Amino acid sequence: MNPALRHDYLAALGLETWVARGKSAPAVAADAVAPRDAAVPRDPAAAREAGVDWPELRARVAACTRCALCNTRTQTVFGVGNQQAEWLIVGEAPGADEDRQGEPFVGRAGQLLNSMLHAIGLAREQVYIANVLKCRPPGNRDPTPSEAAECLPYLEQQIALLKPKLMLAVGRIAAQNLLRTSVTLGRLRQQVHRFGRSQVPLVVTYHPGYLLRTPTDKRKAWEDLKFAREVCARV
Ligand code: URA
Repeated sequence: MNPALRHDYLAALGLETWVARGKSAPAVAADAVAPRDAAVPRDPAAAREAGVDWPELRARVAACTRCALCNTRTQTVFGVGNQQAEWLIVGEAPGADEDRQGEPFVGRAGQLLNSMLHAIGLAREQVYIANVLKCRPPGNRDPTPSEAAECLPYLEQQIALLKPKLMLAVGRIAAQNLLRTSVTLGRLRQQVHRFGRSQVPLVVTYHPGYLLRTPTDKRKAWEDLKFAREVCARV
């Protein structure tokens, strides 16, 4: 990556004075960026295994009434990104902006997430972004265990279709639900976990919304992102 551009990305993370001697991130090849949410599954066998393809899964989510959040949502927030992505970013649940626009991480936290991805040489369009919950909990309260349990099969089907090389769980709620643990986020960081039957490597970092409130932890998030990039390079 061009050093000036890299500096801008790190500045957006508030890290410009801290990583001056770091290894430069891999450049993003323009032709590596596929159209967002293209309709064709990457691997038809995965689609068969999951029992659905992308359009069918999206339709099922849009029609979902498995929990009471269907009564308060404006719309479901399925996920967005490159269906050939190596990275799957998983957040908690849509907030007000996402509920309105139908896309994950479009508010201030989303802008910081984009900057975090850029800092390790990834464009938003190169990754796939989804949440544990597809509907907004009113008032942005934490998802209940039963809401998460009802919704997780949709994420599992997205994973079966995507076959990511790496999952990045952002925030405590995503990490604890994906890993079925109550261990604190601080203790889940900097380790390679495995998700599901396919044992996808999963790395945990802070939620960008938390980092907006606690910018002093951005340095740790930067360490996590570099760690995740190394893990992905080894897969
Ligand atoms: N926070 C999340 O966890 N997900 C979103 O989509 C937006 C904010």
